[in-house]
Amino acid sequence: MSLQSHLSDLTGKAFADIGLSSDYGKVVPAQRPELAQFQCNGAMVAAKKIGKPPREIALAVADHLAQAPEVATADIAGPGFINIRLTDETLVEWANMSANDDHLGYDIASEPMIVVVDYGGPNVAKAMHVGHLRATIIGDSLARLFSFAGHEVIRDPHFGDWGFQMGLLIASIEDADPGLPYFDKETTQYPAESPVTLEDLQRIYPEASARARDDEAFADRARHATVRLQQGDGGYRALWRHMKSVSEASQRDDFAALGVNFDLWYGESDVHERIAPMVSSLRESGIAEESDGALVVRVEQPDDNREWPPLILQSSAGGFLYSTTDLATVEMRVKDLGANLVLYVVDRRQADHFTQVFRAARRGNIAPDSVGLEHIEFGTMNGPDGKPFKTREGGVVRLGDVIKMVQGAALDRLNEAHLAEEYPEQEREAIAATVGVAALKFGDLINNRSSDYVLDLERFSSFEGKTGPYLQYAAVRINSILRKAAEQDLSPGAIIGPSVDVERDLVLELLNLPEVIDRSIDLRAPNHLAEYAHTLAGRFNRFYDVCHILSESDPRQQASWLRLSTWTLAALERLLDMLGIEIPDRM
Ligand code: ARG
Repeated sequence: MSLQSHLSDLTGKAFADIGLSSDYGKVVPAQRPELAQFQCNGAMVAAKKIGKPPREIALAVADHLAQAPEVATADIAGPGFINIRLTDETLVEWANMSANDDHLGYDIASEPMIVVVDYGGPNVAKAMHVGHLRATIIGDSLARLFSFAGHEVIRDPHFGDWGFQMGLLIASIEDADPGLPYFDKETTQYPAESPVTLEDLQRIYPEASARARDDEAFADRARHATVRLQQGDGGYRALWRHMKSVSEASQRDDFAALGVNFDLWYGESDVHERIAPMVSSLRESGIAEESDGALVVRVEQPDDNREWPPLILQSSAGGFLYSTTDLATVEMRVKDLGANLVLYVVDRRQADHFTQVFRAARRGNIAPDSVGLEHIEFGTMNGPDGKPFKTREGGVVRLGDVIKMVQGAALDRLNEAHLAEEYPEQEREAIAATVGVAALKFGDLINNRSSDYVLDLERFSSFEGKTGPYLQYAAVRINSILRKAAEQDLSPGAIIGPSVDVERDLVLELLNLPEVIDRSIDLRAPNHLAEYAHTLAGRFNRFYDVCHILSESDPRQQASWLRLSTWTLAALERLLDMLGIEIPDRM
């Protein structure tokens, strides 16, 4: 249990003592730290309900609360705030408990869930571009957060490899080079080498999708190619495998550069076998119906205040679509993986798609109500002009290029700050790579995920302000203090009563960690972790300015401060880990 919830219980009891519901006792960190450590605003809420003056209620509650041995003072302020300070003994007791706990005082889930996080999955024929960056960064952070909280997390990118885009590519390649063996009905022998490179695919795909918009005959060929691929045409499948593997090779590199890994490397095609049985059972139960030659599932609901087009299961040409594979994937995740919760970390422009899929999954009993299906949507990453980030020529920016840019910026900042100066070249580069990725990830995660933000390399890579590099540096510095202490044979000991305010503030901040994790989980919002990590690093810096650990003459005091340092470092490491940020050994 967190200190804050323990104190909420105590305050709740004080409300109960005067005959009111203990629910009013919820306590939060004080808004004005100069007045108190915690505050409870419940008296104002209770006052409205029972029609008594709020200050009168607050006073009575504070009187009862002040009896608790943990509480040093309980005062009232303003219209009826209850301001609370704890005794230093209480803080010290909680500090020692949390500092020595593997989970830093966080109670891991008593009923762990199986959580599937669907994130980052680019389509075949596309090297990852910045559009997938946010999905990857946010998804990975949520996966790490849920895993820390004790849940079983299954990371699944859901690569786009089975829909109309595949038909477009095949039709386009066939048009350009009809003599390739993949299009020869007489053969079953196909080359081992791919006829196309990733660069080819990246050129062909946008051309083909533009062409399909004006050229109905081509669009039709592409639709039929999709169907034939899905039905198992040997040549098409062989070509498809080539396209898939050249794309995946580059995508794997991109993910590796970001330090991101998946438990499953599934794509849409992996549920192909499930589609036919799923479709026929939906048809039998009357949930799937014909409409203009296509097979659809209606998803409107009585209290809708807008129109909801049906989810299309099968096109009139007989092809299965993005929504069909998504629906079959829900089934796979529920039945085979045993998912209790599926988080789809995808651009908010796909909100309608997910509403359709989720509603169809409920109607078709593919996911029972007990399984959470949530679209974790996010805004766009913009360029300096405030528009979605593009190349100078207006093209899509490849992820690999963004990473290079941000690592270049990181190297400049390292040079400016005279960091890592005399290290071997290779180490310096490795540090710049880690710092660059940290800059990118933190710059993203510090924002509320639903807002858009501007990619500002200069600011993101700075060692000052709310940045990834600032936090990495803070951790490296604590590490180096601890190394120096170890060289002097000093080791951390029990935490003793705080002697100065900055020390007490640091302890209180550290004791706040469990609340921050719960909030981040509840809201599926890593920005709370990012914000907190920054506050915590600041508190440590102020503490370290005042408390000269290495030159302290009282050994108990020194050992206590060292423990505060290891605790802070452990917390920062955990937080950065949950943000997907690595910490260099030195800088
Ligand atoms: N492949 C899709 C894209 O590039 C993202 C997949 C998102 N996940 C899903 N289950 N639909 O836009």
